[in-house]
Amino acid sequence: MRALNLSKKAIFFVGFYQCFNPLIQLGNSYYNYHFNEASKGHNNYKRLQDRYGRVDNEDKPVALITGASEGIGREFALELAKSGFDIVIASRSQEKLDNAAEIIRAEVKGANVKSLPIDFAHSQPEDIRKFFDQATEGNQNLRILVNNVGIIKRNRFLETDPQILNDMILINVFAQVYMTKYFQSYIKKQTDALNTRIRIQRNQRYAMIHLSSILSEFKMTKQCLYSSTKRFNAVFSNLTGFWSSRGSKFYTERGAQCLSQVDNIFVMPGRTSTAMNNFQKGKYISLPNETAEGSLRDLGFRRYTYGSILHSQQGNLLKMMPDSLTHLRMAKEGKQVDEPTAQKQ
Ligand SMILES: NC(=O)c1ccc[n+]([C@@H]2O[C@H](COP(=O)([O-])OP(=O)(O)OC[C@H]3O[C@@H](n4cnc5c(N)ncnc54)[C@H](OP(=O)(O)O)[C@@H]3O)[C@@H](O)[C@H]2O)c1
Repeated sequence: MRALNLSKKAIFFVGFYQCFNPLIQLGNSYYNYHFNEASKGHNNYKRLQDRYGRVDNEDKPVALITGASEGIGREFALELAKSGFDIVIASRSQEKLDNAAEIIRAEVKGANVKSLPIDFAHSQPEDIRKFFDQATEGNQNLRILVNNVGIIKRNRFLETDPQILNDMILINVFAQVYMTKYFQSYIKKQTDALNTRIRIQRNQRYAMIHLSSILSEFKMTKQCLYSSTKRFNAVFSNLTGFWSSRGSKFYTERGAQCLSQVDNIFVMPGRTSTAMNNFQKGKYISLPNETAEGSLRDLGFRRYTYGSILHSQQGNLLKMMPDSLTHLRMAKEGKQVDEPTAQKQ
């Protein structure tokens, strides 16, 4: 009888947690957004600098952002420049990168911005390793990696050109995997060079930010590969982040691969007004600076974020709806942007 009562209670608590977890998460976002003074405006710039900044006589801390010549990536670069980081931005077009670097320098006086062209759709692992070496050349204090690059091609799966499927996998998945691998190896090399006592005294921290999408959680008829790559981005972030942040002897002996202190977060924005969406604006659409700023406010506090408070509401509330309703709702909204974007890309 007692066992039955206990299991009833357990079922109730598990059910309660499952139903209300999205509301708890939304509450966390609200708290961080409205009441957490440490993560507001200049306080957050200072917090990021304190957390991932220079220790002793090291070089200035650096942040590397992929796909940063425009959109969400460029806003991450701008925010991190405001937080006092040297910036390395990467994408295919040198011209667009130069333009982005100008915009950042105009907003942040004295910002040090290096631009490195790379095409992730035509890179082998060795090319990415060389790119990584170039990014860290001359400054051995890379602290933050933003795996932001990503593309979407909206079409039904069977009707999509195999070359497009290939590009999407290479840009959305391959780039994340190898950039993370080389960043983790870099961190390991840096931290292995210090003995444990100094490492603990220094509390040297690193961060990895991965761009996933709200579509990693919801079905969209014309975006099955895109949604799957974004699901991969989230799972990969979780698992690599888990292993790399367990820097204690206990975890190392059980297979953790990286002796370091790494904050890991994945971002699941909803629709954001960038080239990816033909710069559409609307009441469900966030601006790219809101996504970048919101993500950096959650960095170090949370394991995942939707970026802006608007998308946090959408993401968490959609999770509470039955799948069938969510799907209908999103498919209807998706239709409005599908056709023109498909033409463009
Ligand atoms: N916008 C949204 O609604 C939304 C929603 C959820 C998630 N996201 C995710 O957020 C991330 C950024 O999206 P966004 O909207 O800011 O994109 P965006 O405005 O279209 O910018 C994409 C960036 O990636 C670069 N890029 C494209 N192909 C590349 C390649 N082959 N190699 C290297 N760089 C390449 C582009 O520069 P070049 O042209 O110079 O290469 C550009 O800097 C993506 O991962 C996306 O999946 C976006």
